[in-house]
Amino acid sequence: MSVESKVRAVTTATLAKMKHDGEKIAMLTAYDYTMAKIVDGAGIDIILVGDSAANVMAGHTTTLPITLDQMIYHASSVVRGTERAFVVVDMPFGTCSGDEQVALAAAIRIMKETGADGVKIEGGEELLPSIKKIIAAGIPVMGHLGLTPQSIHQLGGYGLRAKEEAEAQKLLRDAELLAEAGCFGLVMEKIPAALAAEVTRRIAIPTIGIGAGAGCDGQVLVVHDMLGINKGFKPKFLRQYADLHTAMTEAIGHYVEDVRSGDFPNEQEQY
Ligand code: KIV
Repeated sequence: MSVESKVRAVTTATLAKMKHDGEKIAMLTAYDYTMAKIVDGAGIDIILVGDSAANVMAGHTTTLPITLDQMIYHASSVVRGTERAFVVVDMPFGTCSGDEQVALAAAIRIMKETGADGVKIEGGEELLPSIKKIIAAGIPVMGHLGLTPQSIHQLGGYGLRAKEEAEAQKLLRDAELLAEAGCFGLVMEKIPAALAAEVTRRIAIPTIGIGAGAGCDGQVLVVHDMLGINKGFKPKFLRQYADLHTAMTEAIGHYVEDVRSGDFPNEQEQY
């Protein structure tokens, strides 16, 4: 399979300049071509092909089951729908936790088979050998600290992270190490706003928060959550910009009524 690899308008240099100029970065997830076209057309800076696809697209309760092949399928669809935004793809659970060569091979597959612009990796110091190897191969890497859903069985729940001093200190150190290693950005999930602001001041690379307060250089949300498609999920950090669950349910309900009553199709809707 051949994939057209092109440099889109938003690059790692654009993102670095945005941090330097104090311009906030807007990031959202997408998992398919149609949503990517909408999100990109609306002017988003970064599209994340998140492993949250395991939850949102496939109905799993954790992000662990999604495979590298499935991430590649989602990411290549997103890339085909994206003209301007930087596309970053989650390395799925297990790909970076062992041999660095295995991690590099997975990252190369993502770049070659999807045409994406970079990868995101959950974890800090313990993953540095893999992260450095991938960066050395010329692949942009975004870090992810705080609540890291791939470690959910170790964390024991989706609550706020780094409330205690020891965990906050580890997060600060991990953030500095990731920046020194050459990561182009860092996602911080569900940590106290003051800690996220401190990290953002200390490191030169852009920080993107989800449930990490206003002091980050940018924000990310899961697109289905902020559009109100996913009805049951309403954490404190989520601002819902639409109620598409209701709008879609009503529209589909009208269609069902119209088909059943014979109102659809009418004279103009047939050949
Ligand atoms: O997979 C995902 O959607 C993410 C975001 C929550 C940052 O990692």
